[in-house]
Amino acid sequence: MTASADYILNHLGTRPSWAITLGSGLGRLADEIENPTVIPYSDIPGFRRSTAVGHKGNLIAGRLGNSDVIAMQGRFHYYEGYSMDDVTLPVRVMSELGVHRLVVSNAAGAVNPDYRVGDIMLISDHINLMPNPLIGPNRDEYGVRFPDMTEAYSPTLRAAARAAASALGFELREGVYIATTGPSYETPAEYRFFRTAGADAVGMSTVPEVIVARHCGLEVLGLSVITNQSNDLGNGTVNDGNDVVRAADAGATRLIALVRALL
Ligand code: HPA
Repeated sequence: MTASADYILNHLGTRPSWAITLGSGLGRLADEIENPTVIPYSDIPGFRRSTAVGHKGNLIAGRLGNSDVIAMQGRFHYYEGYSMDDVTLPVRVMSELGVHRLVVSNAAGAVNPDYRVGDIMLISDHINLMPNPLIGPNRDEYGVRFPDMTEAYSPTLRAAARAAASALGFELREGVYIATTGPSYETPAEYRFFRTAGADAVGMSTVPEVIVARHCGLEVLGLSVITNQSNDLGNGTVNDGNDVVRAADAGATRLIALVRALL
């Protein structure tokens, strides 16, 4: 077991069954966790600090809905200069804690022209344009050398998310997330290219964590809050990180309701 998992286990009252990674502007979900145990990343051996806007840097364990959860309030991004090992360490640690299901959330830009700011997209699949986090000697203790990605996003969890959204009375988008390193936003030509490639939303996170989660056998549900439209549609869109965080914050209410209902 990693020193990180050992440290966290010694501070937890319960063994969580779900892990939740909270993206930009979505950290508020952690405020809904009952009887929270808060562990700052800076106290956890091996964990880095989260420097991105809208990311706090705490692990929060407790009760949400009907489940024991552990939430990452803030994630590590590759664009912050962290290695892929640093970015994905928390996922391996979660699996060492005995978590079986991971909910990953993020703020994403619309590639699909039908999407609107504030929409929630269930991730059905991804396209990875970042370095693969499993490059290097395989960690046999976690999983196989060549992990299958046919069902990276659990069909069962997706069906449950669709049912939860419909019970809550809102339309859930469902589409393909394309991951870039960032931190620069896309050029108009890149948005067009991503659309042609079959993507519906674009972001700078999530996929490394999902690949590592699948490597170690976790079931994954991915949710994106659409924070901006693409800049190739002649609608005057100019991407701005602060607007993205504000839009994520506005969209977070529905995402939070959805995750709560799901658990
Ligand atoms: N591109 C990349 N990442 C993002 C975007 C975007 O338009 N919006 C939020 N994260």
